[in-house]
Amino acid sequence: MASKRLLRFPEGFLWGTASAAHQCEGGNTRNQWYRWEQQGHILSGESCGDASDWWRRAESDFELAEQMENNALRLSLEWSRLEPEEGHWDSAALDRYRAMLSDLRRRHMIPLVTLHHFTEPLWFADRGGFANPENIAFFVRYVRYAISHLQDLCDFWLTFNEPNVYAVMGYLLGIFPPGEHDLKLTLRVLRNLLQAHVEAFYAISELQPEARIGYCLQYRLFDPARPLWPLDVGAAALQEESFNWAVLRAAETGRFSLPLKFALEPLVRAPGTRDYHGVNYYTREMVRFDPTKPRELFARRFERLNAIVNDPGVGESFGEIYPEGIYRVLKEVYKRTRGNKPLYITENGFSNVRDDRRPRAILEHLAMVHRAIQEGIPVRGYLHWTLVDNFEWAEGWSARFGLIELNPRTQERLPRRSASLFGEICRANAITEEMVERFAPEAMETVFGAAEQARSEVTA
Ligand code: BGC
Repeated sequence: MASKRLLRFPEGFLWGTASAAHQCEGGNTRNQWYRWEQQGHILSGESCGDASDWWRRAESDFELAEQMENNALRLSLEWSRLEPEEGHWDSAALDRYRAMLSDLRRRHMIPLVTLHHFTEPLWFADRGGFANPENIAFFVRYVRYAISHLQDLCDFWLTFNEPNVYAVMGYLLGIFPPGEHDLKLTLRVLRNLLQAHVEAFYAISELQPEARIGYCLQYRLFDPARPLWPLDVGAAALQEESFNWAVLRAAETGRFSLPLKFALEPLVRAPGTRDYHGVNYYTREMVRFDPTKPRELFARRFERLNAIVNDPGVGESFGEIYPEGIYRVLKEVYKRTRGNKPLYITENGFSNVRDDRRPRAILEHLAMVHRAIQEGIPVRGYLHWTLVDNFEWAEGWSARFGLIELNPRTQERLPRRSASLFGEICRANAITEEMVERFAPEAMETVFGAAEQARSEVTA
């Protein structure tokens, strides 16, 4: 009988889900996102309300994660709960976070804690937020407070979630608060976020020398619509360079590349300020050169014809489901950082309310992660976005990324098939033929083909 094929992940691989405070906790009324929602900026007119009610019941969702034998869980702290007024610290909020982190540890799940996931206190936003470099000191003071009071429960920190998305969505595209459309300001904000990361890195290392500290960027791929047209090739490369690589390079070296070099102050003391690379990956876009779009760097972006896609958003498109992209991104980050640090996939997920595309997508993306590992890339964990449906920023409740379905009105939970699949993978620390057969038989060849591919890459 032919032997069954299997993709085994390394011993000690971290398996879990990722989430963010404002999207899950509910009742966050002291940050800039709450105000943005009240001003009617959410496409469906909603406000996060109780979100997935984690402020009261995170533990029951942690139990569901434990049942999936997850050994890690990424969440974020809400700065506006810990410091609702400048310089005033709320010890009840701190206690609540201590309870959540203790609960995770009791369940043998390693907490990975993000210190800033898109939200900040109103008082901070009203002082100009990260547009003003003088405000970095407030962020670092909050970071010091959080680490001093939580370091017995957590040693894995992410300073910022996706500085590139925060800056572009809030200051260039105007979809996130503060709703600006200003390229120069976007770049300044990005620079200040990276500097704030550097300063937070030193503050955390001083308070907790054994901590693992990093940040995560969202990496998007941009491919030319007509690969033989130099203008499409150039426009796609420019998108990818600006969104991904220029930011990664600046964070690594402290220097911005031309022509940004002339516009932006270099970062101070940047090199070496990370213990790992956090990789968030969702999609790729096709690019056609378009001379009528100078503000978008001459790119018209769209989904590949006939691509398998996420559910369309109300406003934003969550785009193509493109598994090979995660492999390409891992390879590229590894190459560009000369393999200097381990990599964690800190987010990867799919908006798919009916869960008819997610099981296959999970299998195919993980097969690609496995392929990268086979080729020697030190990927140490995979955190799926997300455990339970949560409030999807400008899209509100219209986009559903959860392994577990949520009815926000009743707070009822209903695990999707993907939750069973993910649980089986985590339990086995592997993908088996039998799993693929049951959850997405149509993916059999792509899932195991990726392993064949890796074997030939390694032996070539
Ligand atoms: C963000 C998450 C968000 C997810 C899906 C990421 O950019 O970090 O907060 O929910 O994408 O859009």
